[in-house]
Amino acid sequence: MAKVLIDRDQVKSNYQDFLKYFPDFKTAYAIKSNPHQEIISIIDQSAGYYETASYSEIQYLLDLDIPAERIIFSNPVKARECIENALVAGVNKISFDSLDELKKFAIAQKNTGKKVHAIFRIEVSNEGSIWPLRQKFGAHEKFWDGIYDYIRTENLYLEGITFHVGSQAESLNVWELAMPKARRAFEKAFSYGLKPDLLNIGGGFPIFLGREIPSLREISEVIHRHLEDWKRDGIIIRNLYAEPGRYVSGSAGTLIANVIGVAERENQRWVFLDAGVFNGMMETIDGITYPTLSTGQGTPETVMLCGPTCDSVDRMFEVTIPSPKVDDRLYFSGAGAYTHVYSSNFNGFKQPDVQFMDDYDAIRESEGLLVPGNE
Ligand SMILES: Cc1ncc(COP(=O)(O)O)c(C=O)c1O
Repeated sequence: MAKVLIDRDQVKSNYQDFLKYFPDFKTAYAIKSNPHQEIISIIDQSAGYYETASYSEIQYLLDLDIPAERIIFSNPVKARECIENALVAGVNKISFDSLDELKKFAIAQKNTGKKVHAIFRIEVSNEGSIWPLRQKFGAHEKFWDGIYDYIRTENLYLEGITFHVGSQAESLNVWELAMPKARRAFEKAFSYGLKPDLLNIGGGFPIFLGREIPSLREISEVIHRHLEDWKRDGIIIRNLYAEPGRYVSGSAGTLIANVIGVAERENQRWVFLDAGVFNGMMETIDGITYPTLSTGQGTPETVMLCGPTCDSVDRMFEVTIPSPKVDDRLYFSGAGAYTHVYSSNFNGFKQPDVQFMDDYDAIRESEGLLVPGNE
């Protein structure tokens, strides 16, 4: 059966990277990427913060004794009872990106007697991100006036501005574009007499998935250069947040799948695995690929990988590996995020197991893994 191995030390050091390169930020781990209790507890050891998308995620964290003050609720559109439950639980930093969501905030405040600290998600470019979010979330600039006018009229509390450059953002330029836009959002808010004092730069920080990516240090330099410019012009934002998901959990995980069949399809061999789009590798449908190692021997060959289900969507990506055969194992690195958490039991194929370990390199060596092109 397929499984996901997570290297605890790697999770720790990924989170520590944020403390190093974004020391002036609160780093809220996006638990959607991998909500495993062990990761929650690693973040808790640094008294870290958490980003959530639903009330169930909030409840899950509260049940693990994470204080409400260290939880933010960044899904811009949610059912009213989720907003009310969050407020009652003490989670008050809540995102929105539309007038309708603000109307829910106003009602939720009346019903609970608690104040929403509203965080405004603006639309920014997602160009170059492999898993974009822009079309679904973020208010276009043409709506900002209406939104600020409503906040002022209803006397709501706008605590901050947020954006998300899209997941696995592989171009530094998206942060270069997002920061001036966020600045405009602050300036417009000030012109309405509002006093937002929090910037949340969201997630999107990329991990190595086989292509060149900007480093966390480079992204930090871009963000801090813009913040310095803002400061020089009198725009001082006191509360800074980032919400990495993939960066913290992704590179710490390796998905191990077994070859269950090999078949000839037109001019190519297809390799059927016990993990696929429906059970662990869902992100491959939109262009995510994972660096792949194989325990197989023989001449390298470019094959198409697919999952075990009877659905034709369950086809993943091409990879060059030693000539595959049944019972070979494939190792996909960078697969700690958005893998088992996305999986279903479609066709009766089980979700991959998740195992935590301390020495992944030793396991790899003991398997005698062959690096493609290096055999
Ligand atoms: C609001 C929000 N914050 C943070 C994240 C985490 O993004 P990533 O895993 O790309 O860092 C997401 C992902 O969808 C998100 O929707």
